Amino acid sequence: MKPITYMETNHIDALSALGMSRVIAGFWRLPEWRMSANELLGFVEACIERGVTTFDHADVYGRGAVEAAFGEVLALKPSLRDNIQLISKAGIRFAASSVGEAPVKHYDSDPRYLRESVEQSLKRLKTDHLDLFLIHRPDSLMSIDDIALTAEALIAQGKVRAFGVSNFPARQFELLHAKTTLATNQIEFSPFELGALENDMFAVLSQAKVPPMIWSPLGGGRLFADEHEVARRVRRVMTDLQAQYGATNWLSIAYAWVARLPGAPYVISGSRRLESVQAAVDGLRIELSRPDWYAILEAARGRPVR
Ligand SMILES: NC(=O)c1ccc[n+]([C@@H]2O[C@H](COP(=O)([O-])OP(=O)(O)OC[C@H]3O[C@@H](n4cnc5c(N)ncnc54)[C@H](OP(=O)(O)O)[C@@H]3O)[C@@H](O)[C@H]2O)c1
Repeated sequence: MKPITYMETNHIDALSALGMSRVIAGFWRLPEWRMSANELLGFVEACIERGVTTFDHADVYGRGAVEAAFGEVLALKPSLRDNIQLISKAGIRFAASSVGEAPVKHYDSDPRYLRESVEQSLKRLKTDHLDLFLIHRPDSLMSIDDIALTAEALIAQGKVRAFGVSNFPARQFELLHAKTTLATNQIEFSPFELGALENDMFAVLSQAKVPPMIWSPLGGGRLFADEHEVARRVRRVMTDLQAQYGATNWLSIAYAWVARLPGAPYVISGSRRLESVQAAVDGLRIELSRPDWYAILEAARGRPVR
Protein backbone atom coordinates (compact mmCIF):
# COMPACT_ATOMS: atom_id res chain seq x y z
CA MET A 1 0.00 0.00 0.00
CA LYS A 2 1.49 3.30 -1.00
CA PRO A 3 0.23 6.87 -0.88
CA ILE A 4 -0.28 8.78 -4.10
CA THR A 5 2.33 11.46 -4.62
CA TYR A 6 1.85 14.73 -6.44
CA MET A 7 4.30 13.66 -9.19
CA GLU A 8 2.13 10.67 -10.01
CA THR A 9 -0.91 12.88 -10.46
CA ASN A 10 0.67 15.00 -13.19
CA HIS A 11 -0.08 12.52 -15.95
CA ILE A 12 -2.87 10.41 -14.54
CA ASP A 13 -5.63 11.57 -12.21
CA ALA A 14 -5.22 10.64 -8.57
CA LEU A 15 -8.33 8.43 -8.53
CA SER A 16 -7.22 6.24 -11.44
CA ALA A 17 -3.75 6.06 -9.86
CA LEU A 18 -5.56 4.53 -6.86
CA GLY A 19 -7.16 1.97 -9.19
CA MET A 20 -10.66 3.39 -8.67
CA SER A 21 -13.47 2.50 -11.05
CA ARG A 22 -15.27 5.40 -12.76
CA VAL A 23 -18.57 3.92 -11.62
CA ILE A 24 -18.63 3.71 -7.84
CA ALA A 25 -21.23 1.89 -5.75
CA GLY A 26 -22.55 4.06 -2.91
CA PHE A 27 -24.02 2.64 0.27
CA TRP A 28 -25.86 5.57 1.83
CA ARG A 29 -29.17 3.79 1.25
CA LEU A 30 -28.01 0.35 2.41
CA PRO A 31 -30.25 0.38 5.54
CA GLU A 32 -33.30 0.40 3.17
CA TRP A 33 -32.01 -2.62 1.25
CA ARG A 34 -32.45 -5.04 4.18
CA MET A 35 -29.71 -7.36 2.85
CA SER A 36 -28.06 -10.10 4.90
CA ALA A 37 -24.24 -10.18 4.96
CA ASN A 38 -24.31 -12.97 2.36
CA GLU A 39 -26.69 -11.03 0.10
CA LEU A 40 -24.49 -7.95 0.40
CA LEU A 41 -21.43 -10.05 -0.44
CA GLY A 42 -23.30 -11.24 -3.57
CA PHE A 43 -24.07 -7.63 -4.52
CA VAL A 44 -20.44 -6.54 -4.01
CA GLU A 45 -19.14 -9.47 -6.07
CA ALA A 46 -21.63 -8.72 -8.86
CA CYS A 47 -20.43 -5.09 -8.87
CA ILE A 48 -16.81 -6.25 -9.13
CA GLU A 49 -17.75 -8.55 -12.06
CA ARG A 50 -19.09 -5.43 -13.82
CA GLY A 51 -15.82 -3.55 -13.18
CA VAL A 52 -17.25 -1.53 -10.27
CA THR A 53 -14.52 -1.99 -7.66
CA THR A 54 -14.84 1.22 -5.64
CA PHE A 55 -17.32 1.55 -2.76
CA ASP A 56 -18.46 4.79 -1.14
CA HIS A 57 -19.11 5.06 2.59
CA ALA A 58 -19.30 7.68 5.35
CA ASP A 59 -19.08 7.41 9.11
CA VAL A 60 -22.67 8.68 9.37
CA TYR A 61 -24.30 6.26 6.91
CA GLY A 62 -26.71 4.26 9.04
CA ARG A 63 -24.95 5.99 11.97
CA GLY A 64 -22.01 3.59 11.60
CA ALA A 65 -24.12 0.55 10.70
CA VAL A 66 -23.37 0.73 6.95
CA GLU A 67 -19.59 0.54 7.40
CA ALA A 68 -20.11 -2.25 9.94
CA ALA A 69 -22.25 -4.21 7.44
CA PHE A 70 -19.53 -3.84 4.79
CA GLY A 71 -16.98 -4.98 7.39
CA GLU A 72 -19.02 -8.19 7.75
CA VAL A 73 -18.70 -8.72 3.99
CA LEU A 74 -14.92 -8.38 4.27
CA ALA A 75 -14.94 -10.78 7.23
CA LEU A 76 -16.79 -13.33 5.06
CA LYS A 77 -14.30 -12.88 2.22
CA PRO A 78 -11.09 -11.07 3.31
CA SER A 79 -9.44 -11.62 -0.10
CA LEU A 80 -11.86 -9.04 -1.57
CA ARG A 81 -9.96 -6.22 0.09
CA ASP A 82 -7.00 -6.47 -2.33
CA ASN A 83 -9.30 -5.96 -5.31
CA ILE A 84 -11.46 -3.07 -4.11
CA GLN A 85 -11.07 0.55 -3.09
CA LEU A 86 -12.85 2.02 -0.08
CA ILE A 87 -13.92 5.64 0.30
CA SER A 88 -15.14 7.05 3.57
CA LYS A 89 -15.93 10.51 4.90
CA ALA A 90 -16.18 12.37 8.17
CA GLY A 91 -17.34 15.79 9.17
CA ILE A 92 -21.08 15.54 9.84
CA ARG A 93 -22.00 15.05 13.47
CA PHE A 94 -25.58 14.19 14.26
CA ALA A 95 -27.15 15.03 17.55
CA ALA A 96 -26.96 11.96 19.79
CA SER A 97 -25.63 9.38 17.31
CA SER A 98 -23.55 6.24 17.57
CA VAL A 99 -20.62 8.12 16.06
CA GLY A 100 -20.45 10.68 18.85
CA GLU A 101 -22.90 12.46 21.08
CA ALA A 102 -23.58 16.12 20.30
CA PRO A 103 -26.29 18.52 21.48
CA VAL A 104 -27.00 19.76 17.91
CA LYS A 105 -26.25 18.51 14.42
CA HIS A 106 -23.11 20.26 13.21
CA TYR A 107 -20.07 19.99 10.94
CA ASP A 108 -16.68 19.21 12.47
CA SER A 109 -13.20 19.35 10.95
CA ASP A 110 -11.28 19.38 14.21
CA PRO A 111 -8.12 17.26 13.71
CA ARG A 112 -8.78 15.13 16.79
CA TYR A 113 -12.27 14.28 15.60
CA LEU A 114 -11.11 13.53 12.02
CA ARG A 115 -8.38 11.18 13.29
CA GLU A 116 -10.81 9.44 15.65
CA SER A 117 -13.42 9.08 12.91
CA VAL A 118 -10.88 7.44 10.57
CA GLU A 119 -9.92 5.00 13.36
CA GLN A 120 -13.60 4.11 13.91
CA SER A 121 -14.22 3.68 10.16
CA LEU A 122 -11.21 1.36 9.85
CA LYS A 123 -12.46 -0.72 12.79
CA ARG A 124 -16.01 -0.99 11.42
CA LEU A 125 -14.85 -1.74 7.87
CA LYS A 126 -12.33 -4.31 9.20
CA THR A 127 -9.49 -2.85 7.16
CA ASP A 128 -6.16 -1.17 7.91
CA HIS A 129 -6.51 1.67 5.40
CA LEU A 130 -8.99 3.78 3.45
CA ASP A 131 -8.13 4.35 -0.20
CA LEU A 132 -9.73 7.78 -0.06
CA PHE A 133 -10.84 9.88 2.90
CA LEU A 134 -13.08 12.91 2.33
CA ILE A 135 -14.22 15.82 4.45
CA HIS A 136 -17.99 15.35 4.07
CA ARG A 137 -19.06 19.02 4.15
CA PRO A 138 -17.22 22.31 4.63
CA ASP A 139 -17.23 23.32 8.29
CA SER A 140 -17.84 27.06 8.88
CA LEU A 141 -15.23 26.94 11.65
CA MET A 142 -12.61 24.97 9.70
CA SER A 143 -8.91 25.75 9.62
CA ILE A 144 -7.49 25.01 6.17
CA ASP A 145 -3.99 24.56 7.68
CA ASP A 146 -5.20 22.09 10.33
CA ILE A 147 -7.10 20.02 7.76
CA ALA A 148 -4.06 19.91 5.45
CA LEU A 149 -1.75 18.81 8.29
CA THR A 150 -4.23 16.17 9.46
CA ALA A 151 -4.59 14.78 5.94
CA GLU A 152 -0.84 14.57 5.48
CA ALA A 153 -0.37 12.86 8.87
CA LEU A 154 -3.06 10.26 8.03
CA ILE A 155 -1.37 9.56 4.69
CA ALA A 156 2.10 9.35 6.30
CA GLN A 157 0.71 6.84 8.84
CA GLY A 158 -0.66 4.67 6.01
CA LYS A 159 -4.23 4.93 7.31
CA VAL A 160 -5.38 6.79 4.22
CA ARG A 161 -3.98 6.57 0.68
CA ALA A 162 -5.43 9.82 -0.64
CA PHE A 163 -7.42 12.74 0.64
CA GLY A 164 -10.24 14.87 -0.78
CA VAL A 165 -13.36 16.83 -0.02
CA SER A 166 -17.08 16.73 -0.64
CA ASN A 167 -19.58 19.55 -1.22
CA PHE A 168 -16.81 22.17 -1.11
CA PRO A 169 -17.45 25.45 -2.98
CA ALA A 170 -14.86 26.32 -5.63
CA ARG A 171 -12.91 28.88 -3.59
CA GLN A 172 -12.59 26.66 -0.51
CA PHE A 173 -11.51 23.79 -2.75
CA GLU A 174 -8.76 25.98 -4.26
CA LEU A 175 -7.53 27.20 -0.87
CA LEU A 176 -7.24 23.69 0.56
CA HIS A 177 -5.79 22.24 -2.66
CA ALA A 178 -3.04 24.88 -2.49
CA LYS A 179 -2.03 23.40 0.89
CA THR A 180 -2.42 19.68 0.25
CA THR A 181 -3.24 17.52 -2.78
CA LEU A 182 -6.96 16.84 -3.08
CA ALA A 183 -7.92 13.79 -5.15
CA THR A 184 -11.52 14.90 -5.78
CA ASN A 185 -14.48 17.01 -4.75
CA GLN A 186 -17.55 14.76 -4.37
CA ILE A 187 -20.49 16.93 -5.41
CA GLU A 188 -24.16 16.60 -6.30
CA PHE A 189 -25.16 16.85 -9.95
CA SER A 190 -28.20 15.64 -11.90
CA PRO A 191 -31.00 17.07 -14.07
CA PHE A 192 -32.53 18.18 -10.74
CA GLU A 193 -29.39 19.76 -9.31
CA LEU A 194 -27.52 21.92 -11.82
CA GLY A 195 -25.79 24.33 -9.40
CA ALA A 196 -22.27 23.11 -10.21
CA LEU A 197 -22.70 24.39 -13.79
CA GLU A 198 -23.16 27.92 -12.52
CA ASN A 199 -20.57 28.19 -9.76
CA ASP A 200 -17.33 27.45 -11.66
CA MET A 201 -16.85 24.11 -9.90
CA PHE A 202 -16.17 22.11 -13.07
CA ALA A 203 -13.81 24.75 -14.46
CA VAL A 204 -11.82 24.88 -11.21
CA LEU A 205 -11.54 21.10 -10.96
CA SER A 206 -10.64 20.71 -14.65
CA GLN A 207 -7.96 23.35 -14.38
CA ALA A 208 -6.51 21.60 -11.31
CA LYS A 209 -6.70 18.24 -13.18
CA VAL A 210 -8.79 16.86 -10.33
CA PRO A 211 -11.76 14.70 -11.41
CA PRO A 212 -15.17 15.50 -9.91
CA MET A 213 -17.04 12.65 -8.23
CA ILE A 214 -20.80 12.96 -8.68
CA TRP A 215 -23.37 11.93 -6.06
CA SER A 216 -27.12 11.43 -6.69
CA PRO A 217 -26.70 11.36 -10.52
CA LEU A 218 -30.34 10.19 -10.82
CA GLY A 219 -31.53 12.89 -8.44
CA GLY A 220 -31.73 10.31 -5.67
CA GLY A 221 -34.38 8.41 -7.68
CA ARG A 222 -36.48 11.48 -8.69
CA LEU A 223 -35.71 10.64 -12.33
CA PHE A 224 -38.17 7.72 -12.05
CA ALA A 225 -41.05 9.73 -10.54
CA ASP A 226 -44.06 9.86 -12.88
CA GLU A 227 -45.54 12.87 -11.07
CA HIS A 228 -42.35 14.92 -11.55
CA GLU A 229 -42.55 17.18 -14.63
CA VAL A 230 -38.76 17.57 -15.01
CA ALA A 231 -38.36 13.80 -14.76
CA ARG A 232 -40.98 13.20 -17.46
CA ARG A 233 -39.36 15.73 -19.82
CA VAL A 234 -35.82 14.44 -19.26
CA ARG A 235 -36.82 10.77 -19.57
CA ARG A 236 -38.57 11.52 -22.89
CA VAL A 237 -35.37 13.03 -24.38
CA MET A 238 -33.19 10.24 -22.96
CA THR A 239 -35.52 7.58 -24.38
CA ASP A 240 -35.41 9.30 -27.79
CA LEU A 241 -31.58 9.22 -27.72
CA GLN A 242 -31.26 5.62 -26.50
CA ALA A 243 -31.39 3.87 -29.90
CA GLN A 244 -29.11 6.42 -31.57
CA TYR A 245 -26.34 5.52 -29.09
CA GLY A 246 -27.06 1.77 -29.14
CA ALA A 247 -28.02 1.75 -25.45
CA THR A 248 -30.23 -1.05 -24.10
CA ASN A 249 -31.59 1.20 -21.33
CA TRP A 250 -32.43 4.93 -21.38
CA LEU A 251 -30.80 5.07 -17.95
CA SER A 252 -27.40 4.70 -19.62
CA ILE A 253 -28.05 8.05 -21.33
CA ALA A 254 -28.62 9.59 -17.87
CA TYR A 255 -25.17 8.40 -16.79
CA ALA A 256 -23.59 9.39 -20.13
CA TRP A 257 -24.98 12.92 -19.57
CA VAL A 258 -23.20 13.27 -16.22
CA ALA A 259 -20.02 11.62 -17.47
CA ARG A 260 -19.79 14.13 -20.37
CA LEU A 261 -19.07 17.00 -17.94
CA PRO A 262 -15.57 18.54 -17.94
CA GLY A 263 -12.91 16.61 -16.05
CA ALA A 264 -14.22 13.09 -16.81
CA PRO A 265 -16.26 12.72 -13.60
CA TYR A 266 -16.44 9.56 -11.51
CA VAL A 267 -20.10 8.71 -10.86
CA ILE A 268 -21.64 7.13 -7.76
CA SER A 269 -24.60 4.80 -8.27
CA GLY A 270 -26.90 4.56 -5.26
CA SER A 271 -29.01 1.64 -6.45
CA ARG A 272 -29.44 -1.87 -5.09
CA ARG A 273 -30.40 -2.99 -8.63
CA LEU A 274 -27.64 -4.60 -10.66
CA GLU A 275 -29.36 -3.51 -13.88
CA SER A 276 -28.91 0.11 -12.78
CA VAL A 277 -25.25 -0.49 -11.94
CA GLN A 278 -24.85 -2.05 -15.40
CA ALA A 279 -26.63 0.94 -17.00
CA ALA A 280 -24.07 3.19 -15.31
CA VAL A 281 -21.15 1.12 -16.62
CA ASP A 282 -22.66 1.14 -20.14
CA GLY A 283 -23.43 4.86 -19.93
CA LEU A 284 -19.85 5.79 -19.19
CA ARG A 285 -18.85 4.22 -22.53
CA ILE A 286 -21.17 6.58 -24.42
CA GLU A 287 -19.97 9.99 -25.55
CA LEU A 288 -22.96 12.26 -26.12
CA SER A 289 -22.66 14.86 -28.87
CA ARG A 290 -22.78 18.49 -27.75
CA PRO A 291 -26.31 19.08 -29.17
CA ASP A 292 -27.62 15.91 -27.49
CA TRP A 293 -26.06 16.94 -24.17
CA TYR A 294 -27.73 20.35 -24.47
CA ALA A 295 -31.06 18.76 -25.41
CA ILE A 296 -31.07 17.06 -21.99
CA LEU A 297 -30.03 20.32 -20.27
CA GLU A 298 -32.93 22.07 -22.01
CA ALA A 299 -35.34 19.39 -20.78
CA ALA A 300 -33.92 19.67 -17.25
CA ARG A 301 -34.30 23.47 -17.18
CA GLY A 302 -37.50 23.61 -19.18
CA ARG A 303 -36.04 26.27 -21.50
CA PRO A 304 -33.35 26.51 -24.18
CA VAL A 305 -30.06 28.31 -23.53
CA ARG A 306 -30.28 32.01 -24.37
N1 LIG B 1 -21.10 13.38 -0.35
C1 LIG B 1 -22.36 13.55 -0.06
O1 LIG B 1 -22.77 14.54 0.58
C2 LIG B 1 -23.35 12.52 -0.54
C3 LIG B 1 -24.74 12.76 -0.39
C4 LIG B 1 -25.62 11.79 -0.85
C5 LIG B 1 -25.15 10.62 -1.44
N2 LIG B 1 -23.79 10.41 -1.53
C6 LIG B 1 -23.27 9.16 -2.13
O2 LIG B 1 -23.80 9.02 -3.43
C7 LIG B 1 -24.45 7.74 -3.54
C8 LIG B 1 -25.54 7.83 -4.55
O3 LIG B 1 -26.56 8.74 -4.13
P1 LIG B 1 -28.07 8.38 -4.42
O4 LIG B 1 -28.41 7.08 -3.78
O5 LIG B 1 -28.89 9.57 -4.06
O6 LIG B 1 -27.96 8.21 -6.02
P2 LIG B 1 -28.93 7.98 -7.23
O7 LIG B 1 -28.30 6.88 -8.00
O8 LIG B 1 -29.21 9.30 -7.84
O9 LIG B 1 -30.34 7.50 -6.62
C9 LIG B 1 -30.52 6.20 -6.13
C10 LIG B 1 -32.01 5.99 -6.03
O10 LIG B 1 -32.53 5.75 -7.35
C11 LIG B 1 -33.29 4.55 -7.32
N3 LIG B 1 -33.16 3.82 -8.59
C12 LIG B 1 -32.03 3.52 -9.29
N4 LIG B 1 -32.31 2.78 -10.38
C13 LIG B 1 -33.66 2.61 -10.37
C14 LIG B 1 -34.56 1.95 -11.25
N5 LIG B 1 -34.11 1.31 -12.34
N6 LIG B 1 -35.87 1.99 -10.95
C15 LIG B 1 -36.35 2.63 -9.86
N7 LIG B 1 -35.53 3.29 -8.97
C16 LIG B 1 -34.20 3.27 -9.22
C17 LIG B 1 -32.67 3.73 -6.21
O11 LIG B 1 -33.59 2.77 -5.74
P3 LIG B 1 -33.23 1.19 -5.83
O12 LIG B 1 -32.14 0.93 -4.84
O13 LIG B 1 -34.52 0.54 -5.47
O14 LIG B 1 -32.79 0.90 -7.24
C18 LIG B 1 -32.35 4.78 -5.18
O15 LIG B 1 -33.45 5.06 -4.36
C19 LIG B 1 -24.87 7.41 -2.10
O16 LIG B 1 -25.06 6.03 -1.88
C20 LIG B 1 -23.67 7.91 -1.34
O17 LIG B 1 -22.63 6.96 -1.40
C21 LIG B 1 -22.91 11.35 -1.11
